Amino acid sequence: MKGAMQPEAVSHEEVVRELMTFTEKDVDWTTGRVMTGLYDPGKDAHDLAVEAYTRFLPQNALYVNMYPSIGRLEKDVVASINELLRGDDEVVGNMTSGGTESILMAVKTARDWARENRPHIKEPEMVLPVSAHPAFLKAAHYFGLTVVQTDLDITDYRADVESFKDALSENTIIAVGSAPNFSHGSIDPIREMAALAGERNILFHVDGCVGGIYLSIMRRMGESLRDFDFSLDGVTSISADLHKYGYTPKNASVILYRNRDLRKYAWFVCSSTTEYVVINPTAQSTRSGGPFAAAWAMLRFLGEEGFREIVRSSQEATAAMIEGINRINGIEILGDPDMCMFTMASNEVNIFEVDDEMSLLGWKMIPQFACGGSPPNLHVSLSHANVPYVEKYVKDLNTVVERLRRDGSSVDTDGLNAVVDAVAGKPIEEIMGAVIPHIGLSGMDLPEKMAPLNTVLSRLPADKRDQLLTFFFNMT
Ligand SMILES: Cc1ncc(COP(=O)(O)O)c(C=O)c1O
Repeated sequence: MKGAMQPEAVSHEEVVRELMTFTEKDVDWTTGRVMTGLYDPGKDAHDLAVEAYTRFLPQNALYVNMYPSIGRLEKDVVASINELLRGDDEVVGNMTSGGTESILMAVKTARDWARENRPHIKEPEMVLPVSAHPAFLKAAHYFGLTVVQTDLDITDYRADVESFKDALSENTIIAVGSAPNFSHGSIDPIREMAALAGERNILFHVDGCVGGIYLSIMRRMGESLRDFDFSLDGVTSISADLHKYGYTPKNASVILYRNRDLRKYAWFVCSSTTEYVVINPTAQSTRSGGPFAAAWAMLRFLGEEGFREIVRSSQEATAAMIEGINRINGIEILGDPDMCMFTMASNEVNIFEVDDEMSLLGWKMIPQFACGGSPPNLHVSLSHANVPYVEKYVKDLNTVVERLRRDGSSVDTDGLNAVVDAVAGKPIEEIMGAVIPHIGLSGMDLPEKMAPLNTVLSRLPADKRDQLLTFFFNMT
């Protein structure tokens, strides 16, 4: 395979031209039709973020003595997020590269805290609702914790407190709630959950990666929301991403700890090699100053005023969208979302086929598989950039769902389910062999129409799904 480096050097212009040809098949994020993973604050803020980012690109957060500017930026950003999350002066924290790294740090810190403070626990456990982000399962996998997933109350897709309570055990060292969960946009009953954990001397992490900033602004605007932050005694750490609804370019997040006594378990310090001394509060070591400067610049430029305006218009658009979707026969919003994120399902049409059809019209959403009582569904995270396009979205969705209801499906959902059910318990190679003829896979390229593949994946048990995806992507 031809790599990037060839014997001869190539001009600046040519390199840029070549780079841009690679993006031809990428989603065009400027259309306002990308309904997830895109957090566009508008042109002026974006331009400033790019400038701040590139000016600080060479700075290295590893060398705190050489670049005190990074320490200053981090301090200011952490203080702003702490204020939003109603932490006091005892709360400390750091910037990380994203939600996953913040969560990895919360779990690693809990593990090391427990080693010292609960030394009798030999097999530490983490208790979390099935809606908690996969990053927690990744952290458990990396740091040797056993995962205990608990049920959702599927009337509103929040953690079921009884199920959560029953799962807390002598071995539990950390428990988790989300504000909100990504899948359904609902805030867990954090007050009740954190109190249960606190009574048992169990650390409690709030995943505010996607909602920590946005929900705090909503609360400050007078919305009545479930409490989820440091105002609750049992909450010992919170993650909040700047590169989501903090409208900072990637990679930027914050991990906050209740106090220094807890954060001391986060550090990795090493002077026992011939190398330089490593002093890391995060998983990464060398880190560009870009995200620090961009996050600082966004908070400063938008101010609370700017964030309020973004939240106001996004909430108005979300309400219009949900109302519009609820008027479409054959499709429904799941639960009772707390912010501009929600999910929809259908008893009448294959929801993954809706995704394919909408995708052809440029609307990009996230398919989510059946799990924990939640049916197969389509997820929307509305962003400021989508606000002007909501009416058109609802119109297109209505047309697509009406057509599928009228003309019927081109996906044989029952047939695919039967194929999966016949092989679901078999080894992964056998499952692959049985499903491949039905899902339009040719070579290693994903099919243009994803509905058959998603239908199959949604029907498989989660462990088989994970194995099948690993098998597939390992071939790429
Ligand atoms: C609630 C929640 N937690 C954690 C994460 C992981 O964040 P990242 O993708 O930045 O690692 C996400 C990402 O969407 C999320 O929504």
